[in-house]
Amino acid sequence: MKQQLETIKETAKKAILECENERAIEEIRVKYLGKKGELTAILKQMGSLSAEERPVMGQLVNEAKQKLEELISQKSNELKAKATELKLKAETVDITMPAKVKKQGKLHPLNTVLNDMIDIFQSMGFDVLDGPEVETDHYNFECLNVPADHPARDMQDTFYLGENLLLRTQTSAAQIRTMETRKPPIRVICPGRVFRADEVDATHSPVFHQIEGLVVDKGITMCDLKGVLEQFAREIYGPDTKVKFRPSFFPFTEPSVEVDVTCSKCSGGGCRVCKGSGWIEILGAGMVHPNVLRSCGIDPDVYSGFAFGIGLDRLTTTRYKISDIRLLFENDKRFLEQF
Ligand code: PHE
Repeated sequence: MKQQLETIKETAKKAILECENERAIEEIRVKYLGKKGELTAILKQMGSLSAEERPVMGQLVNEAKQKLEELISQKSNELKAKATELKLKAETVDITMPAKVKKQGKLHPLNTVLNDMIDIFQSMGFDVLDGPEVETDHYNFECLNVPADHPARDMQDTFYLGENLLLRTQTSAAQIRTMETRKPPIRVICPGRVFRADEVDATHSPVFHQIEGLVVDKGITMCDLKGVLEQFAREIYGPDTKVKFRPSFFPFTEPSVEVDVTCSKCSGGGCRVCKGSGWIEILGAGMVHPNVLRSCGIDPDVYSGFAFGIGLDRLTTTRYKISDIRLLFENDKRFLEQF
């Protein structure tokens, strides 16, 4: 029995030392020390020994058991440490690796110019309002003194969505909505997209942007209109900018004007941007027609007002010397990254 114990001890020791992973060490533990293990089997044979042999043998078996347990736990700790080390090595982060550079987005040039314009008008006391892009005939034409058979409808080729529903051709529709909900004194701007079924070319797009302005109060005159627009032009184009008011026609303003500023490229000398004239047209404006005030329930004998509609796209293309308006809408990153 002693001999048998010795052999078990030796083979177990050898197995433990050669063992290479935690699962194998557990198998060894079960094989020798488990309920049906080899050492346990020897203990079970003790009954066949004499009373003198039994305690001697018992002690030997216990010692062997202790020794093996010790070896197993030692080996198992060793293996665990090794496994952790391997895992850490595999998960090492290479801090010298170049980082993924995220490109930062920027404002679209139209938004940059729009923000500047909003700043300018807000500093003059204007509120900023919004209006719907899908409008009714009523707001886009009828209330603006353009009845169904009016020839001025030809000035703006319209996308109709139904008999009375259309994509607004001008932000002027927002004038009416404003006067319906606010009472004078009114001082607002309404920026937004407008749509026209125009032929598309370098200066025309079926979608473009306007900023509508509206001021209504007692005693408002053409002088106020000129003062506000001159101040605006100087702030957006520089202090030396000259402004020219040309007589024009819009059904909803009387009198009406178109406003030119000295070309920002050649300062009025004449160049390709201004087609040699030295001037660039930037907006239409005028004194709000009495019919329009009346259609919104404002008494034209008490109140007067002026309105203007600025083309944001033209302002943007001239500021950044962009040769084709379509570039503003193509979302080509190579173009947009330049601003
Ligand atoms: N709505 C006009 C246009 O689109 C511009 C305008 C606005 C003119 C306000 C006068 C007053 O051409």
